[in-house]
Amino acid sequence: MLANKTIVLGVTGSIAAYKAADIASKLAQAGAKVEVVMTESATKFITPLTLRSITSRPVVTDMFESTTEFSIEHVALAEAADVLVIAPATANIIAKVAAGIADDMLSCTVLATKAPIIVAPAMESNMFQNPITQENLVKLKARDFTIVEPGYGRLASGKVGLGRIAEVERIIGTIKQVLGRSKDLAGKRIVVTAGGTQEPIDPVRHLGNRSSGKMGYAIAEAARDRGAAVSLITAPVSLPEPVGIDVVPVKTAAGMKEAVDKVAAQADVLIMAAAVADYQPKTVAESKIKKETTSLTLELVRTPDILAEIKGNFLRVGFAAESEDIVANARQKLERKQLNLIVANDITDPTGGFGSDTNKVTLIDRDGKVESLPLITKREVADKILDKVVGLLNKGARVL
Ligand code: C5P
Repeated sequence: MLANKTIVLGVTGSIAAYKAADIASKLAQAGAKVEVVMTESATKFITPLTLRSITSRPVVTDMFESTTEFSIEHVALAEAADVLVIAPATANIIAKVAAGIADDMLSCTVLATKAPIIVAPAMESNMFQNPITQENLVKLKARDFTIVEPGYGRLASGKVGLGRIAEVERIIGTIKQVLGRSKDLAGKRIVVTAGGTQEPIDPVRHLGNRSSGKMGYAIAEAARDRGAAVSLITAPVSLPEPVGIDVVPVKTAAGMKEAVDKVAAQADVLIMAAAVADYQPKTVAESKIKKETTSLTLELVRTPDILAEIKGNFLRVGFAAESEDIVANARQKLERKQLNLIVANDITDPTGGFGSDTNKVTLIDRDGKVESLPLITKREVADKILDKVVGLLNKGARVL
């Protein structure tokens, strides 16, 4: 995977700059062509000679100010890059890139490249947690940068906190993941639903659930990265709107059904990750219900089962949030709703599921194949689901 890939490694002025040597060494050993670009302050922490020796390539720095070479160099590297990795990334480079400032070799290369960009922040925890840095990171994520989140640990100041650069293995793993993003869904239309629907009781209240929408959003983004045209039908969530995806906001199960019926008609795949309410209040009060009585009874009626009822020539992927007999219950659901694939998760497992960035799921297909995945990020789960979807599409599996 890494062999013969051109990896531009941007190194900035952090005490963690020495880790860049380890990263460069591991990448070079795996056969990658590693082109190092150092900021001037990075050269105070680690010498260009070290990185040149490790990579057997010239190292680009800002120390020699030849303007012609400067511009040629950054364009050449930007074009050659299969991936650009900034590790360690200081608050300064993150701010510069988020603001679109290009005033040194590294920031110019970042702005000039079309390659995917990975950023591994490393800084004091107060700097990392400062809302300015956090907002800058949100901006970068919205622009499809992959952030390798820092961990807790001993920092340069001697204090222990959040801001220690991620483990080298994690950074290399992320590089592999980003490079491995195939475009195997190019030309496909994928509809994803996400979030928990809200069923109104009166003008100010609703019945809701704890779905954060993170799983559905991760699937939508992963499908986009793999070349699909993606529609995301989303119940209210507090997540940033993803870039490059057609987002259709809805509120209720009925609203979601209407949107899915319309959008899925042209789809190749429908992935229902939304937590759709099973019941809605029979009537919605026109004005706010007053607390005049000691108890209040709400009559609920069933919502439409979107997935079970939808017709059309597309693959269907459903989710099953289960608390017992996970596989057996999910299998039944797969049958009942006539699905090609079901993603079952154990909601009693505190490490995965609602609200978290990780999930532990079991994938079950119609051939009876059961694949239990370990606890991984929702983005990783998304790619596993899409791997299955690609397999099913290639097999010519269709509506059942
Ligand atoms: O039956 P259950 O709610 O457990 O099924 C979960 C799957 O069915 C999910 O994929 C969910 O998005 C979908 N669903 C639906 N319409 C409903 C309820 C669930 O499409 N009313």
